[in-house]
Amino acid sequence: MKMSRVHYIAHTGAVLFIFFSLMPLSAVPENLGSKVQDADSSIDTNQLKLREVVFVIQSQRNSFHKQQAERRREDLLLQTENLLESPPAILLLHSLSDNEGDWSILPLLPYLSSTFGKNSSWIVFLEEDTNVRLAKFLEVLTRFDRRKEWFLGKPLHDEESTIIHHYAFAENPSIFKYPDFAAAWALSLPLVNRLAIKVKDEPLKSDFTIDLKHEVALYIWENGKGPQLTEVPELCTMLDESPLAKHCATTLSYRLPMCGEPVKKEDIFVAVKTCRKFHTERVPVVKKTWEKQASLLEYYSDHADPSIPTINLGVPNTNRGHCGKTFAILKRFASGAVPKTNWLLIVDDDTLISLPRLQALLSCYDPSEPLCLGERYGYGLSQGGYSYITGGGGMVFSRETVVRLLASGCKCYSNDAPDDMVLGMCLNALKLPVTHSPLFHQARPEDYSREFLAHQVPVSFHKHWNIDPISVFQKWLKDDGMDPTSETPQKDIKEEL
Ligand SMILES: *[C@@H]1O[C@H](CO)[C@@H](O)[C@H](O)[C@H]1NC(C)=O
Repeated sequence: MKMSRVHYIAHTGAVLFIFFSLMPLSAVPENLGSKVQDADSSIDTNQLKLREVVFVIQSQRNSFHKQQAERRREDLLLQTENLLESPPAILLLHSLSDNEGDWSILPLLPYLSSTFGKNSSWIVFLEEDTNVRLAKFLEVLTRFDRRKEWFLGKPLHDEESTIIHHYAFAENPSIFKYPDFAAAWALSLPLVNRLAIKVKDEPLKSDFTIDLKHEVALYIWENGKGPQLTEVPELCTMLDESPLAKHCATTLSYRLPMCGEPVKKEDIFVAVKTCRKFHTERVPVVKKTWEKQASLLEYYSDHADPSIPTINLGVPNTNRGHCGKTFAILKRFASGAVPKTNWLLIVDDDTLISLPRLQALLSCYDPSEPLCLGERYGYGLSQGGYSYITGGGGMVFSRETVVRLLASGCKCYSNDAPDDMVLGMCLNALKLPVTHSPLFHQARPEDYSREFLAHQVPVSFHKHWNIDPISVFQKWLKDDGMDPTSETPQKDIKEEL
């Protein structure tokens, strides 16, 4: 399964050959590359074999996520046996290449095309918690003529134009549809083969990978030259046990993973970054909302204010990045100046977070492993860049990560460098992955699709701009003293592992 970039290049010729050799097979070759909106009901439904479908689980290297993905693969194989069909290829995304940035999928299309372009019909992408009802799923795929280009999924749309999508479609933000990855999404091989050539010919433009599902859809749509997302109503994000999910070919296993007793709040040290000008504006919001959920919390500032209290780290305040401040926090955490905990959470003074939900989530992670958890962004991924946890949504570190980071000597190139990106570069140099959770959010609830937020129990949001942060906290993050996970049906994953 291991492959390199050289491998992609070596296959260029092969892919071109595959692409053109497929064309005569198509009954309507002129449809290749154009928009095809309607499923053709006259397709011979007996022809699609399970082994023509390639499943790609969007897995991660961290041991918990790897285990989840392996369980998903086993579940698919078990269902295959029951269907008495030969098994499909099931790939774990994190194991396909040594390049950490390949979570962004587009760089992998040449590999998928050269490996499966000739002998398969569909590439199906799913998340580790996406249940597939395999017989139903296959039935759904047979509705679509696999000789044409298809981009299938459960559509999301923006209600207002948002910073996380670079304010795209500002005149009418809801017009553009992008797939909810949690419901699974699929590309027909003719589309994969064409995109693979495009990926190799034109370097990917964007420097930042922020919301991959939106960016992938934009790349495929190509200003109208490529297909739009076709809605498949059987691709669902309801919980598997929901009575409303009868028609679904995919469902979700849980809203918030939990693997046993929540981590104790005494085992999470919380660092809030602030500065003098926000002592009266933002710190009071933290105090009124989530500060009391913390057992160990310190505010770090450029000015010591005993009424909060804040600690002056001796790092001058900077208007842009906070690298100096963040590294001083890491050193203080490791130094023994504060109580020794397994976990460190670093947030901004305008981060809104639910610590009880974080405690529940952290039950799935091993604190002796190097873990850096939060919302993952990418920088220059297609040119050998790196991934990082975006700071505003909260960055969670295991003690082991902090120890290794400091021991490596990695440091800020300036006090005002962006702390989260520098940390990403450092981890990348150490070959430590960052771990993504879609429950952390760098922006406000308004910035995410309503449908996307509807199937999760969010852990954090960020920014006070144009919202009332206290009511956002109450609406999205507050559990009224109840078990944070009891409102939505949960499965205890540990029992199943
Ligand atoms: C297609 O080829 C790949 C690579 O050789 C192989 O792994 C896969 O099993 C093949 N699939 C089918 C349906 O023959």
